[in-house]
This record gives sequence, structure tokens and C-alpha cells, in this order.
Amino acid sequence: MSYSVIKPEEFDENVFHLIDKDWFLMTAEHDGVVNPMTVAWATMGILWQRPVVICAVRPERYTHEIASQADTFSLTVFDKQYRKVLGFCGTKSGRDYDKVKECGLTVAHEDDTPYFTEARLAFICRKLCVSQLREEDFLGNSEFTSKWYGGENRADGSGGGYHHLYIAEIEKILKKDDE
Ligand SMILES: Cc1cc2nc3c(=O)[nH]c(=O)nc-3n(C[C@H](O)[C@H](O)[C@H](O)COP(=O)(O)O)c2cc1C
Repeated sequence: MSYSVIKPEEFDENVFHLIDKDWFLMTAEHDGVVNPMTVAWATMGILWQRPVVICAVRPERYTHEIASQADTFSLTVFDKQYRKVLGFCGTKSGRDYDKVKECGLTVAHEDDTPYFTEARLAFICRKLCVSQLREEDFLGNSEFTSKWYGGENRADGSGGGYHHLYIAEIEKILKKDDE
């Protein structure tokens, strides 16, 4: 198993499909704890003349606790046979489970950033800015904010605290070589 490093400008997959249909595992490490969380609310593009990803992380996530203390994180993408893993990491918290162990994932590091060798792609991301959305910055429609924020987090992704936007430079994309 080996990976090739590709540059963001060489990346030719549909990012809308990747984010909305494949989903990511967002994984950061702090104090030896590696915790993957399923993420489907994200964007990719250019800011400050750099290739960036923005991940929206609710404050109650254990991932926020870990990633807020780390300089980097990875976003990994898996083939369909790992769907159950993404389901588990999207419904169970690292506060209650060692998700890496439960899912049988194999941790590797690119520099200091953890990713999983079962992944077909790994985006290695360095945090540039973390900023929390605020109710007063949403324009006009309070039905919109009351749908998506406040109360319990529900299965459709609504409810819960205002997201922290993790804006991070995509330093490398690791693409698994054909075996
Ligand atoms: C398909 C899917 C996508 C999700 N996307 C996000 C997301 O973008 N941001 C977020 O904060 N939570 C998202 N979640 C919820 C978290 O993955 C879930 O609450 C997880 O258990 C948090 O784990 P943690 O406490 O270990 O961080 C998603 C869940 C699923 C199933």
C-alpha cells in the first residue's frame, strides 16, 4: 500500500460529490488521542491565495475539543465498503468510544498529522483560522437559524450549537496508488 502526493490544482474529482455523498473523516490528534468524526458540511476553495478547506464543527463535538488544540488535521475519504465506519464515526462520540479501535482503522502519520491507511484519499490540512458562527450574523430569516441551531442535535444534522468554521490550508493530498 502506497500513496502519491498530488497538488490541489491536480485534483480532478467532484468536490460536491466527495463532501455530500462520500463524506470525510476529520481526524486530529492531541495528547496521543486520535479521534475521527464524520463530516459532510465543508467547502473547498481558495482563500488568501492558498488552497483551503472549511469544515463546520459544532462546539459539542469531542472533535472540537481535540482539533482546537492541534495545529493540523486530516480529511480522509473511503471506498463504499467503509460506509459502516463512517456511520459509526458520525453517530458515536470519542468521549464514549475509541473509534479507531472499534472501527479497526490503521493510523499512519504524514509529518505529524494522523490519517488512516484504509482511506483512498487523505487531505492533510493545517489550521489557519477558527471562527464560530454567530446568530446575529445570519441575514433575515430566523426560521433558518432556529431550524439549524439550538436544542438537541438531530439525525438530519439540525439542532445544536453554532458551528466553528475550521479554515485550513490543504498542504498535501495523498492519493492511494493502484494495487
Ligand atoms: C453523514 C454525517 C455527516 C456529519 N457531518 C458533520 C459536520 O459536518 N459537522 C459536525 O459537527 N458534525 C457532523 N456530523 C455529526 C458527528 O459526526 C457526530 O456527532 C459524531 O458522533 C461526533 O463525534 P465526536 O464527539 O467524537 O467528535 C455528521 C454526522 C453524519 C452521520
